[in-house]
Amino acid sequence: MIAAVARNRAIGFQNKLIYWLPNDLKRFKQLTTGHTILMGRRTFESLPKGALPNRRNCVLTTTVSHLPGCECFASWDEFIATCQPHEDIFIIGGASLYKELLDKADRLCLTEIDDEPQQADTFFPPYDDWHEVAREDHPNEERHDYAYAFVDYERCAEE
Ligand SMILES: NC(=O)c1ccc[n+]([C@@H]2O[C@H](COP(=O)([O-])OP(=O)(O)OC[C@H]3O[C@@H](n4cnc5c(N)ncnc54)[C@H](OP(=O)(O)O)[C@@H]3O)[C@@H](O)[C@H]2O)c1
Repeated sequence: MIAAVARNRAIGFQNKLIYWLPNDLKRFKQLTTGHTILMGRRTFESLPKGALPNRRNCVLTTTVSHLPGCECFASWDEFIATCQPHEDIFIIGGASLYKELLDKADRLCLTEIDDEPQQADTFFPPYDDWHEVAREDHPNEERHDYAYAFVDYERCAEE
């Protein structure tokens, strides 16, 4: 899973992202290009230019059968049946997919933003039982209104 989350795990408001962090967008592009991205129908609708280039764009939806540049699936099972064994799949949101599919993920690539937004209506699920495996801190930088960190998590091993 890949997501940009505030301190209170907020990720969106009125079907838009809350933050504009150019380095986060750059990292998102670097990590996902050449791979498969899976998103919910509302997240697809929030993309300003539609399907993202140079990626296999897959959308979960029970109401739409065709979206430009995308493959549409009515369920996770239908989607995963079309994937190759070693295909890298990035679940890119939104809140409903993060919540429903957290159990399927083996890594969280988060951008943690050092802020609590005044307005938010969608949240990343709790991930306290995951452990940090990589961290890159970015204190306040030019063109970025908030300090942020790229933090990767893996699931804690069973006791
Ligand atoms: N900060 C971040 O990193 C980040 C990333 C992505 C999105 N976001 C934000 O998240 C918000 C959107 O999240 P959301 O939860 O409202 O919407 P969403 O998860 O993007 O999309 C929800 C829709 O996906 C479809 N869906 C979900 N689970 C499904 C399943 N198991 N099988 C088939 N279809 C399924 C349904 O579409 P149908 O109604 O068509 O059936 C559902 O209405 C926006 O504010 C967006 O900006 C933030």
